[in-house]
This record gives sequence, C-alpha cells and structure tokens, in this order.
Amino acid sequence: STLPVLMLLTLLCWFDFPALECFQCDRVNTSGVCVSGGGTCQTQDGQQCFLRKIYEDGMLSYGRQGCSQLCTPMKLFNPNVIVEYKCCHDSPLCNKF
Ligand SMILES: *[C@@H]1O[C@H](CO)[C@@H](O)[C@H](O)[C@H]1NC(C)=O
Repeated sequence: STLPVLMLLTLLCWFDFPALECFQCDRVNTSGVCVSGGGTCQTQDGQQCFLRKIYEDGMLSYGRQGCSQLCTPMKLFNPNVIVEYKCCHDSPLCNKF
C-alpha cells in the first residue's frame, strides 16, 4: 500500500527547511577565528546550520560549523570533554560562533 509511504513523505516535507547558507569551518579557535577549512555551505534536504562547541576541562577549546542533517540539540559529556551541539534554520549564517 502507498499510504504509509505518502505519510512518511508528508512527515519528511514537514521537516524540510528552505535552503540556507551556513558558516562552515573545521576549527574555530576561541577568538572566533576559523583556522582550518573555512567557508560556507548550502543546506539541502532538511539540513540545518550547526554549531558545535567543544569544552575541555571546563574551558572552551574550539568550535566547528557546517550544514548537517543530524540536528538534535544536545550536550555530550565525557569525563573531561563537553560537546555542545546546536542547530538553527531561522536566518542565513545563523550558526555564528
Ligand atoms: C585564533 O587565530 C588567530 C589567527 O590565526 C590568532 O590571531 C588568534 O591569536 C587565535 N586565538 C587563539 C585564542 O588562539
């Protein structure tokens, strides 16, 4: 039956955000300067802009920016490392460090 497929497509479209330009950077230092792999990316197929901040021993260590499908706001804890993961889709370049 095609009904489940149609329902799934409807759900997917529900979460499909318009294409957006995002900051892209492999490594943003604590001054907010992209020191590796800088540029921008364009979201597609439900992606959002993401900003990840990595804290080591309670101090901000570096950040990462880009376009991503995986966008559950979350915090991941290690004994000494905290990864803060945020996504946005409300305006272009919203994932400013
Ligand atoms: C971040 O990178 C810039 C450019 O290389 C450098 O001038 C600045 O000192 C760096 N900041 C830190 C905290 O390392």
